[in-house]
Amino acid sequence: MNVLIIGGGGREHALAWKLARSPDVKKIYCAPGNAGTARRGENVPLKITDVEGLLQLAREKSIDLTVVGPDDALAAGIVDRFQADGRRIFGPTREAARLEWSKIFTKDFLLRHGIPTAAAGRFERVEDALAFCGTRSYPLVVKADGLATGKGVIIAQDRDAAERAVREMMVAGRFGDAGRRVLIEEFLTGPEISLHALIDSAHHRLLPVAQDYKRVGEGNLGENTGGMGSASPPAISLPNDLPQRVETGIMQPFMAGLHAEKLRFQGLLFPGLMLTPTGPRVLEFNARFGDPETQVILPRLQSDLLPILEATIDGRLPQVEMRVDPRAAVCVILASSGYPGSYETGKIITGLETIPPDSDDLFVFHAGTRLDGENVVTSGGRVLGVTALGRDLGEARDRAYDAADRIAFEGRYLRRDIAAAGAVA
Ligand code: AMP
Ligand code: GLY
Repeated sequence: MNVLIIGGGGREHALAWKLARSPDVKKIYCAPGNAGTARRGENVPLKITDVEGLLQLAREKSIDLTVVGPDDALAAGIVDRFQADGRRIFGPTREAARLEWSKIFTKDFLLRHGIPTAAAGRFERVEDALAFCGTRSYPLVVKADGLATGKGVIIAQDRDAAERAVREMMVAGRFGDAGRRVLIEEFLTGPEISLHALIDSAHHRLLPVAQDYKRVGEGNLGENTGGMGSASPPAISLPNDLPQRVETGIMQPFMAGLHAEKLRFQGLLFPGLMLTPTGPRVLEFNARFGDPETQVILPRLQSDLLPILEATIDGRLPQVEMRVDPRAAVCVILASSGYPGSYETGKIITGLETIPPDSDDLFVFHAGTRLDGENVVTSGGRVLGVTALGRDLGEARDRAYDAADRIAFEGRYLRRDIAAAGAVA
C-alpha cells in the first residue's frame, strides 16, 4: 500500500515512522516532509494547502491512503476534495473540522450538548464585546474565533488589557478574518491534558492520554509555543474518576451531539481539557493529532497503526486491536534559540548518529530540519523531538535528556523540566 502523509513536522515524522513499521505499507510519501521523513520514504515539496497539487500527486503515485497532519490542510478542504475523487483519506471534512477552526461554533456545540466548558460570550460587534468587558470580573480570556496559529488566545488580567485585545482582534485585524468575531470567556484554573480520540462517525476509541508543555520557559513561563515537550501518561496525578468523567461527561455527549446534528466526523478528535477543581472542562477541540503529543502517543501504541486508521475511515473502530505499552514516554523538544520569536536557520546538526536508528525505545523525530548535501541542518523553530520510553516517567525522562544532550547545533534551546515531578506544563 502507498501512503501519503501531509505535513512536515515532528508529528508527521512520528506518523511516518509508525506507518513504516506496518507490513502492509509499501512506500510512504510525505508532503512536504523533513530530513527525518526523507529517511522513511520520499518527500515531495508541496504546500499543505495546495489541495489540487496534492490530489495530483496522489493520482500519479497511486496513493491508497492519505493521512492529514495539520489543521490548515483540513480547513482548506483537502478531505472533501480527496473524497470527491474517490480517495481514502484519514481526517474530517472541512465542515466537521469547524470544531477546530471556529471557536464560536465549538462553544455553541459544547453548550448545546451539555459538555462542561468555560462560560463565554460570543461577539460580532466590537461595541458589544467592549461593553461585556466592563461587566465582568478578571482575569478574562479573549479568543479570536478562527485559526490564528496558536496566538489567538489572550489572558487579560484587567479591563484595559481585555479591551486592548478586543480592539486588536476586531478593529486592527491582527488575525485577519480569524479575529473578526471573538469569544470572551471565564478564566479557569488547573492542569491541562490532551485527549486523543479516534472517531469513525459512529464510534470512538481513546488513545493514551498525554500532556504538552506549552510555554517556552521552565516553570511554564514566557510565550506560548507549539509545545516544548510532552509526556504520556501526564506527569501529574490524575483524578481516579477521570476515565469515567471523560467517557460520560465528554465523549458520550460529544458523540450524541454529532449524531443529533448529523455531523459526520471521521478522524482524530483531540480535546484540550483543563482539570478544574469542579471536574474536567473542554478548553478547545483540535481535529488532528497533537504535536508533540503524537511523539509520545505513537511510541506507546503497540498495535499496527495502519489497520486502526483504516478502521476509522470504514466505521469499524470497535473491532480493531489497540494495545498500549504500559511504559511511560517523554519527548523533549530541541528548538532554535529565539523561538517562538525570530531565529536563525541553516545550522548543522551533529550527534544524530549516536541514536540507533532502529531502536524500539529511543527516537529522534525531526521537525524543522532539512538535508543540505551530506548534512542535516535546522530549518524551523522546533527542530527535533527526542522521545524515550522508560519503566516510569523518571526513567523515560532521564533517557530522553541523556539522548538530547548528545545532539548539538548552534543556538540549541530546550526546557529542562519536561515531565519533572511538580513542573508546570
Ligand atoms: P486554546 O487555544 O483555546 O486551547 O487556548 C490556548 C491556551 O490558553 C490553553 O492551552 C490554556 O492554557 C489557555 N486557556 C484557554 N482558555 C482558557 C480559560 N478559559 N481559562 C484559562 N486558560 C485558558
Ligand atoms: N500541542 C498542541 C497542539 O498540537 O495543538
